[in-house]
Amino acid sequence: MPSPVNHVSIVGFGLMGAQIAQLLAQSGFSVSAYDVSEAQLHSGLDLVRKGKYGLENSVAKRRMTEEEADNALSRIILLNSLEDTCKGSDFVLEAVVEDLDTKREIFSKAAVYANQDAILASNTSTLTISRISESFSPKVRARIAGMHFFNPPQVMKLVEVVRTRETNREVVSKIEALCTSLHKTPVEVLDSPGFVANRIGISVFAEASSLLEKGIASVRDIDLAMRLGYGYPMGPFELGDLVGLDSRLRNMEAMYSDTQDERFRPPKILEKLVSEGYLGDPKTKRGSKGGYYEYFGLKRPGEDNG
Ligand SMILES: NC(=O)c1ccc[n+]([C@@H]2O[C@H](COP(=O)([O-])OP(=O)(O)OC[C@H]3O[C@@H](n4cnc5c(N)ncnc54)[C@H](O)[C@@H]3O)[C@@H](O)[C@H]2O)c1
Repeated sequence: MPSPVNHVSIVGFGLMGAQIAQLLAQSGFSVSAYDVSEAQLHSGLDLVRKGKYGLENSVAKRRMTEEEADNALSRIILLNSLEDTCKGSDFVLEAVVEDLDTKREIFSKAAVYANQDAILASNTSTLTISRISESFSPKVRARIAGMHFFNPPQVMKLVEVVRTRETNREVVSKIEALCTSLHKTPVEVLDSPGFVANRIGISVFAEASSLLEKGIASVRDIDLAMRLGYGYPMGPFELGDLVGLDSRLRNMEAMYSDTQDERFRPPKILEKLVSEGYLGDPKTKRGSKGGYYEYFGLKRPGEDNG
């Protein structure tokens, strides 16, 4: 089924919003984007242009021509108002900071500004879609769903399409069709804390943290065990460093609060690192003192012969 939309309104032009905008634009969709921070609109556009997965690098690697990159860039319009970004839109994708009240506020306004039947999708990683949508009327709730990309969205194939028990079937089908147009593989998930990939991925990270805290093995040896023994492309700590330890902490706090499952209680070592400014791999996370590897003075697998 061809994509039923040709324009997407993106709210939140941070790490994910900007990169998703790029993905859409290079796949031929027009995008209007809004962020509450004007500085973020500029740095988001910088990411689209010059980021590791941005347009300039794609041209340098011959994945697209200069003309295609210019065309993609010209399809992204940055706006200073949420209303202008959503006006006349059939598809709003929210990628603002992971905060329930902020997301609810965005959706309540987008439901008014966008077209009456517009799809209202959230890229949240750990908040449940039901909690975001619970204060809305049944008609609006039927249009709300999750469209959960993985970082970097230009590269990662998976999109979790999250439906609540009230999400209209047609809304799910349309989001899946959009995923297919972006050459992504949609996986349909019934709303639940952490959905599927983070629920399992964070469980592995939590177990790895428990082994580390008990002194059973080092960060590097745990990562190597999962790489070489289980065929993981990255161990749980390397991945945590890449995703960002502050994000990992927030994800675990949200999942613990939703489930009260001890498994998801944030590990002490993670809280300590984040409070000391170790926010992840400094190559990808600006302003970070380092991640697990810098904290323990170890080399990441792949940085030597490991
Ligand atoms: N970082 C990841 O690896 C990742 C992966 C998948 C999903 N997500 C989810 O994507 C969402 C965004 O995450 P991110 O990593 O891009 O965060 P980010 O901090 O880089 O970007 C969030 C943006 O939201 C903007 N914002 C805050 N309040 C706003 C408002 N009221 N209106 C408009 N913009 C507002 C901020 O200015 C910021 O630019 C979160 O829900 C997160 O859980 C993140």
